[in-house]
Amino acid sequence: MSGFFISFEGIDKSGTSTLAELLVDHLQNSSHEVVFTYEPGNTELGGEIRHLVLDWKPQGEIDATAEMFLFAADRAQHVNELIRPSLDAGKVVISDRYVDSTLAYQGYGRGLNLNDLRMIQNVATGGLMPAITIWLDVDLQTARKRGWGTGADRIEKEDEAFFKRVRQGFAAGYKSEPGRIFRVDGSQSISDVFEDVKKVVAGRMSGTK
Ligand code: TMP
Repeated sequence: MSGFFISFEGIDKSGTSTLAELLVDHLQNSSHEVVFTYEPGNTELGGEIRHLVLDWKPQGEIDATAEMFLFAADRAQHVNELIRPSLDAGKVVISDRYVDSTLAYQGYGRGLNLNDLRMIQNVATGGLMPAITIWLDVDLQTARKRGWGTGADRIEKEDEAFFKRVRQGFAAGYKSEPGRIFRVDGSQSISDVFEDVKKVVAGRMSGTK
């Protein structure tokens, strides 16, 4: 595998999609071949799973473990159909969300056992982890100013306590893997956040073009 894998993580409204897209343009302009992708949903199967986990409104509750396996199924398909082949072809892959979202949302948010989750993630991904994960850290006040809480999807409808736990989950990941996960203050202006993101990426990618 000769490509370079970068993921963006954070609570809802932290800016992962915006920053991932800015980084795609920036790296393309520096002559990298870049693939932008996201979870859940960027394969044919994944699109169906995204509908089930986010948009579908069942009459009952979706069980937390069932939800976690749906995200894991999306990820297995995503890795094998798109991420790994793109890396094998020498491309830079930038994913809006990956494994750390499951640890934060299903582990810290829903309270599922973290060791079990890590094992299942390892099966789903075949052990493939990003070279760099950028955690855009925002507090709930900032997220709310950006429209958090007004979102219609099933997970965005969770309460503040849930998102506080999710944020703690990202913080715990950052503390335990400082060589992979980089914290960027996502409450700054977009241009300042992007400057910080570029610094992290430039520091780690030098010599990979
Ligand atoms: P987004 O595409 O707008 O970021 O929405 C994805 C939502 O799904 C977001 O609330 C985070 C959540 N999610 C999980 O709970 N677990 C996961 O493993 C992933 C990838 C996303």
